[in-house]
Amino acid sequence: MNYEFILVDEQAQPHIALIRLNRPKELNALNLQLMLELKSALQSLDQNDAVRCIIITGNEQAFAAGADIKQMESRTPVDLIKIDQFETWDQIRKTSKPVIAAVSGFALGGGCELAMLCDMIVASESAKFGQPEIKIGIMPGAGGTQRLTRAVGKALAMEMVLTGKFISAQEAHAAGLINRVVPDELYLDEAFKLAKEVAAMSPISIRLAKESVLKAFETGLQEGLFFERKNFYLTFTSEDQKEGMKAFIEKRKPDFKGV
Ligand code: HXC
Repeated sequence: MNYEFILVDEQAQPHIALIRLNRPKELNALNLQLMLELKSALQSLDQNDAVRCIIITGNEQAFAAGADIKQMESRTPVDLIKIDQFETWDQIRKTSKPVIAAVSGFALGGGCELAMLCDMIVASESAKFGQPEIKIGIMPGAGGTQRLTRAVGKALAMEMVLTGKFISAQEAHAAGLINRVVPDELYLDEAFKLAKEVAAMSPISIRLAKESVLKAFETGLQEGLFFERKNFYLTFTSEDQKEGMKAFIEKRKPDFKGV
Protein backbone atom coordinates (compact mmCIF):
# COMPACT_ATOMS: atom_id res chain seq x y z
CA MET A 1 0.00 0.00 0.00
CA ASN A 2 1.17 3.50 -0.79
CA TYR A 3 -0.81 5.03 2.00
CA GLU A 4 -1.73 4.30 5.58
CA PHE A 5 -5.30 4.63 6.53
CA ILE A 6 -6.29 5.34 10.06
CA LEU A 7 -9.89 5.61 11.11
CA VAL A 8 -9.21 7.82 14.04
CA ASP A 9 -10.18 6.90 17.58
CA GLU A 10 -13.91 7.50 17.86
CA GLN A 11 -13.65 8.64 21.48
CA ALA A 12 -10.82 11.14 21.10
CA GLN A 13 -11.55 12.39 17.58
CA PRO A 14 -15.07 11.44 16.61
CA HIS A 15 -15.95 11.19 12.93
CA ILE A 16 -12.49 12.01 11.59
CA ALA A 17 -10.46 9.81 9.25
CA LEU A 18 -6.80 10.28 8.44
CA ILE A 19 -5.02 9.18 5.28
CA ARG A 20 -1.24 9.33 5.33
CA LEU A 21 0.59 9.22 1.99
CA ASN A 22 3.35 6.73 2.50
CA ARG A 23 6.19 6.68 -0.03
CA PRO A 24 8.71 8.42 2.23
CA LYS A 25 11.83 7.43 0.25
CA GLU A 26 10.42 9.16 -2.83
CA LEU A 27 9.11 12.17 -0.86
CA ASN A 28 5.61 10.80 -1.47
CA ALA A 29 5.90 11.18 -5.24
CA LEU A 30 2.45 10.46 -6.60
CA ASN A 31 2.63 7.41 -8.81
CA LEU A 32 -0.47 6.05 -10.53
CA GLN A 33 -0.94 3.30 -7.96
CA LEU A 34 -0.91 5.73 -5.06
CA MET A 35 -3.51 7.94 -6.73
CA LEU A 36 -5.77 4.96 -7.46
CA GLU A 37 -5.46 3.80 -3.86
CA LEU A 38 -6.17 7.30 -2.61
CA LYS A 39 -9.25 7.51 -4.80
CA SER A 40 -10.57 4.18 -3.47
CA ALA A 41 -9.89 5.19 0.13
CA LEU A 42 -11.76 8.46 -0.33
CA GLN A 43 -14.66 6.77 -2.06
CA SER A 44 -15.07 4.27 0.75
CA LEU A 45 -14.81 7.00 3.42
CA ASP A 46 -17.43 8.96 1.53
CA GLN A 47 -19.79 5.99 1.91
CA ASN A 48 -19.03 5.53 5.60
CA ASP A 49 -21.61 7.34 7.76
CA ALA A 50 -19.27 7.32 10.75
CA VAL A 51 -16.87 9.64 8.91
CA ARG A 52 -17.65 13.35 8.66
CA CYS A 53 -14.28 14.86 7.83
CA ILE A 54 -11.12 13.49 6.19
CA ILE A 55 -7.53 14.61 6.64
CA ILE A 56 -4.87 13.81 4.04
CA THR A 57 -1.29 14.18 5.18
CA GLY A 58 2.24 13.07 4.35
CA ASN A 59 5.23 13.21 6.66
CA GLU A 60 7.48 15.99 8.02
CA GLN A 61 9.64 16.08 4.86
CA ALA A 62 6.93 15.98 2.26
CA PHE A 63 3.22 16.15 1.70
CA ALA A 64 4.09 15.12 -1.87
CA ALA A 65 6.92 16.23 -4.16
CA GLY A 66 4.79 15.89 -7.28
CA ALA A 67 3.86 13.23 -9.76
CA ASP A 68 6.40 10.43 -9.97
CA ILE A 69 8.90 11.73 -12.52
CA LYS A 70 10.56 8.31 -12.89
CA GLN A 71 7.21 6.81 -13.85
CA MET A 72 6.41 9.66 -16.24
CA GLU A 73 9.77 10.10 -17.93
CA SER A 74 9.30 7.70 -20.85
CA ARG A 75 5.59 8.26 -21.45
CA THR A 76 4.29 9.20 -24.88
CA PRO A 77 1.24 11.40 -25.38
CA VAL A 78 -0.68 8.30 -26.45
CA ASP A 79 0.27 6.57 -23.18
CA LEU A 80 -1.00 9.59 -21.27
CA ILE A 81 -4.28 9.62 -23.14
CA LYS A 82 -4.79 5.91 -22.58
CA ILE A 83 -3.83 6.01 -18.91
CA ASP A 84 -6.21 8.94 -18.41
CA GLN A 85 -4.86 9.58 -14.92
CA PHE A 86 -6.82 12.78 -14.50
CA GLU A 87 -10.01 10.76 -14.34
CA THR A 88 -8.71 9.60 -10.94
CA TRP A 89 -8.14 13.21 -9.92
CA ASP A 90 -11.67 14.11 -11.07
CA GLN A 91 -13.06 11.32 -8.90
CA ILE A 92 -11.08 12.56 -5.91
CA ARG A 93 -12.53 16.02 -6.51
CA LYS A 94 -16.01 14.48 -6.21
CA THR A 95 -15.54 13.49 -2.57
CA SER A 96 -18.62 14.95 -0.93
CA LYS A 97 -17.20 15.14 2.59
CA PRO A 98 -14.80 17.90 3.57
CA VAL A 99 -11.15 17.04 3.05
CA ILE A 100 -8.33 18.87 4.82
CA ALA A 101 -4.72 18.71 3.63
CA ALA A 102 -2.22 18.75 6.51
CA VAL A 103 1.01 19.81 4.81
CA SER A 104 4.56 19.67 6.07
CA GLY A 105 7.64 19.89 3.87
CA PHE A 106 7.24 19.84 0.11
CA ALA A 107 3.91 20.26 -1.66
CA LEU A 108 5.14 20.52 -5.22
CA GLY A 109 3.67 20.00 -8.67
CA GLY A 110 1.00 17.32 -8.34
CA GLY A 111 1.52 17.53 -4.56
CA CYS A 112 0.52 21.20 -4.53
CA GLU A 113 -2.34 20.34 -6.88
CA LEU A 114 -3.50 17.56 -4.57
CA ALA A 115 -3.46 19.96 -1.61
CA MET A 116 -5.48 22.44 -3.68
CA LEU A 117 -7.97 19.69 -4.53
CA CYS A 118 -8.66 19.49 -0.80
CA ASP A 119 -11.11 21.92 0.76
CA MET A 120 -8.78 23.47 3.31
CA ILE A 121 -5.03 23.43 3.87
CA VAL A 122 -3.22 23.55 7.20
CA ALA A 123 0.55 23.83 6.94
CA SER A 124 3.62 23.69 9.12
CA GLU A 125 5.98 26.68 9.13
CA SER A 126 8.52 24.75 7.05
CA ALA A 127 6.07 23.74 4.32
CA LYS A 128 6.93 24.77 0.78
CA PHE A 129 4.48 25.10 -2.07
CA GLY A 130 5.37 25.22 -5.73
CA GLN A 131 4.61 24.25 -9.30
CA PRO A 132 8.11 23.39 -10.52
CA GLU A 133 7.02 21.42 -13.61
CA ILE A 134 8.48 24.11 -15.88
CA LYS A 135 11.96 23.14 -14.67
CA ILE A 136 11.57 19.63 -16.08
CA GLY A 137 10.21 20.74 -19.44
CA ILE A 138 6.50 20.33 -18.81
CA MET A 139 3.78 22.39 -17.13
CA PRO A 140 1.14 21.77 -14.48
CA GLY A 141 -1.57 19.35 -15.55
CA ALA A 142 -3.80 18.71 -12.54
CA GLY A 143 -5.11 22.19 -11.82
CA GLY A 144 -1.92 24.11 -11.12
CA THR A 145 -2.66 26.84 -13.62
CA GLN A 146 -6.33 27.02 -12.67
CA ARG A 147 -6.80 26.43 -8.95
CA LEU A 148 -3.57 28.22 -8.03
CA THR A 149 -4.55 31.26 -10.09
CA ARG A 150 -8.00 31.36 -8.54
CA ALA A 151 -6.46 31.08 -5.07
CA VAL A 152 -3.54 33.51 -5.25
CA GLY A 153 -4.30 35.68 -8.28
CA LYS A 154 -2.54 36.08 -11.61
CA ALA A 155 0.68 37.78 -10.51
CA LEU A 156 1.91 35.16 -8.07
CA ALA A 157 0.46 32.18 -9.95
CA MET A 158 2.13 33.27 -13.18
CA GLU A 159 5.47 33.72 -11.43
CA MET A 160 5.25 30.35 -9.69
CA VAL A 161 4.19 28.51 -12.84
CA LEU A 162 6.72 30.24 -15.14
CA THR A 163 9.74 30.12 -12.83
CA GLY A 164 8.96 27.07 -10.71
CA LYS A 165 9.85 28.99 -7.56
CA PHE A 166 8.65 27.67 -4.23
CA ILE A 167 6.81 29.82 -1.73
CA SER A 168 6.92 29.43 2.03
CA ALA A 169 3.93 28.57 4.17
CA GLN A 170 3.84 32.17 5.38
CA GLU A 171 3.76 33.47 1.80
CA ALA A 172 1.12 30.90 0.88
CA HIS A 173 -0.97 32.04 3.83
CA ALA A 174 -0.60 35.72 2.97
CA ALA A 175 -1.59 34.94 -0.64
CA GLY A 176 -4.74 33.07 0.39
CA LEU A 177 -3.60 29.62 -0.71
CA ILE A 178 -3.82 28.02 2.72
CA ASN A 179 -5.91 28.37 5.85
CA ARG A 180 -3.39 28.20 8.67
CA VAL A 181 0.34 28.08 9.38
CA VAL A 182 1.48 26.63 12.68
CA PRO A 183 4.80 25.55 14.23
CA ASP A 184 6.15 22.36 12.67
CA GLU A 185 5.22 20.04 15.50
CA LEU A 186 1.61 21.23 15.53
CA TYR A 187 0.40 20.96 11.95
CA LEU A 188 -1.40 17.67 12.38
CA ASP A 189 -2.94 18.71 15.70
CA GLU A 190 -4.16 21.88 14.05
CA ALA A 191 -5.67 19.91 11.17
CA PHE A 192 -7.47 17.73 13.71
CA LYS A 193 -8.73 20.82 15.52
CA LEU A 194 -10.19 22.16 12.30
CA ALA A 195 -11.60 18.74 11.37
CA LYS A 196 -13.22 18.44 14.78
CA GLU A 197 -14.99 21.77 14.34
CA VAL A 198 -16.30 20.70 10.93
CA ALA A 199 -17.26 17.21 12.12
CA ALA A 200 -19.41 18.69 14.88
CA MET A 201 -21.74 20.29 12.31
CA SER A 202 -24.63 18.71 10.48
CA PRO A 203 -23.10 16.45 7.82
CA ILE A 204 -25.92 17.25 5.42
CA SER A 205 -25.44 21.00 5.75
CA ILE A 206 -21.70 20.52 5.43
CA ARG A 207 -22.10 18.54 2.24
CA LEU A 208 -24.46 21.07 0.66
CA ALA A 209 -22.34 24.00 1.81
CA LYS A 210 -19.13 22.48 0.41
CA GLU A 211 -20.86 21.84 -2.90
CA SER A 212 -22.07 25.45 -2.97
CA VAL A 213 -18.67 27.00 -2.24
CA LEU A 214 -17.08 24.86 -4.97
CA LYS A 215 -19.80 25.99 -7.36
CA ALA A 216 -18.44 29.52 -7.03
CA PHE A 217 -15.40 28.40 -9.04
CA GLU A 218 -17.50 27.08 -11.86
CA THR A 219 -20.32 29.55 -12.45
CA GLY A 220 -21.25 33.17 -12.75
CA LEU A 221 -22.76 34.96 -9.74
CA GLN A 222 -26.45 34.60 -10.61
CA GLU A 223 -26.23 30.88 -11.33
CA GLY A 224 -24.14 30.38 -8.20
CA LEU A 225 -26.65 32.26 -6.05
CA PHE A 226 -29.47 30.18 -7.51
CA PHE A 227 -27.56 26.96 -6.73
CA GLU A 228 -26.87 28.19 -3.20
CA ARG A 229 -30.54 29.02 -2.66
CA LYS A 230 -31.68 25.53 -3.68
CA ASN A 231 -29.14 23.96 -1.35
CA PHE A 232 -30.24 26.32 1.43
CA TYR A 233 -33.84 25.14 0.97
CA LEU A 234 -32.62 21.53 0.95
CA THR A 235 -31.06 21.89 4.40
CA PHE A 236 -34.61 22.35 5.73
CA THR A 237 -35.45 18.76 4.73
CA SER A 238 -33.09 17.47 7.41
CA GLU A 239 -33.81 16.64 11.04
CA ASP A 240 -30.48 18.31 11.77
CA GLN A 241 -32.03 21.67 10.80
CA LYS A 242 -34.79 21.16 13.40
CA GLU A 243 -32.21 20.01 15.96
CA GLY A 244 -29.83 22.89 15.23
CA MET A 245 -32.46 25.59 15.60
CA LYS A 246 -34.13 23.93 18.60
CA ALA A 247 -30.77 23.61 20.36
CA PHE A 248 -30.10 27.31 19.75
CA ILE A 249 -33.44 28.29 21.26
CA GLU A 250 -32.98 25.90 24.21
CA LYS A 251 -29.44 27.25 24.74
CA ARG A 252 -27.72 23.87 24.43
CA LYS A 253 -25.27 22.21 22.03
CA PRO A 254 -26.92 20.54 19.04
CA ASP A 255 -26.57 16.81 18.53
CA PHE A 256 -26.44 16.38 14.78
CA LYS A 257 -27.28 12.92 13.48
CA GLY A 258 -26.77 13.37 9.75
CA VAL A 259 -30.44 12.78 8.92
C1 HXC B 1 10.05 10.82 -8.38
C2 HXC B 1 11.11 11.90 -6.68
C3 HXC B 1 10.34 13.05 -6.86
C4 HXC B 1 9.34 13.01 -7.91
C5 HXC B 1 11.69 13.45 -5.27
N1 HXC B 1 11.95 12.20 -5.67
N2 HXC B 1 10.72 13.99 -5.99
N3 HXC B 1 10.99 10.80 -7.41
N4 HXC B 1 9.25 11.86 -8.62
N5 HXC B 1 8.52 14.03 -8.15
C6 HXC B 1 12.95 11.27 -5.14
C7 HXC B 1 14.34 11.62 -5.59
O1 HXC B 1 14.60 11.11 -6.88
C8 HXC B 1 15.18 10.95 -4.53
O2 HXC B 1 15.22 9.57 -4.77
C9 HXC B 1 14.34 11.15 -3.28
O3 HXC B 1 13.01 11.39 -3.73
C10 HXC B 1 14.78 12.34 -2.46
O4 HXC B 1 14.84 13.46 -3.30
P1 HXC B 1 16.12 14.43 -3.40
O5 HXC B 1 16.02 15.19 -4.65
O6 HXC B 1 17.37 13.67 -3.15
O7 HXC B 1 15.84 15.39 -2.14
P2 HXC B 1 16.23 16.91 -1.97
O8 HXC B 1 17.63 17.19 -2.46
O9 HXC B 1 15.89 17.24 -0.55
O10 HXC B 1 15.26 17.72 -2.94
C11 HXC B 1 13.88 17.72 -2.71
C12 HXC B 1 13.10 18.27 -3.94
C13 HXC B 1 13.55 17.50 -5.18
C14 HXC B 1 13.41 19.75 -4.09
C15 HXC B 1 11.62 18.09 -3.64
O11 HXC B 1 13.45 16.10 -4.93
C16 HXC B 1 12.73 17.81 -6.39
O12 HXC B 1 12.93 18.84 -7.02
N6 HXC B 1 11.79 16.91 -6.74
C17 HXC B 1 11.00 17.05 -7.94
C18 HXC B 1 9.93 18.09 -7.76
C19 HXC B 1 9.10 18.25 -9.03
O13 HXC B 1 9.66 18.60 -10.07
N7 HXC B 1 7.80 17.98 -8.92
C20 HXC B 1 6.92 18.09 -10.07
C21 HXC B 1 6.83 16.76 -10.75
S1 HXC B 1 5.86 16.85 -12.22
P3 HXC B 1 16.61 8.84 -5.18
O14 HXC B 1 16.25 7.38 -5.24
O15 HXC B 1 16.99 9.42 -6.49
O16 HXC B 1 17.58 9.20 -4.08
C22 HXC B 1 4.27 16.88 -11.65
C23 HXC B 1 3.22 16.92 -12.72
C24 HXC B 1 1.87 16.68 -12.15
O17 HXC B 1 4.00 16.86 -10.52
C25 HXC B 1 0.90 16.34 -13.22
C26 HXC B 1 -0.36 15.73 -12.67
C27 HXC B 1 -0.28 14.35 -12.17
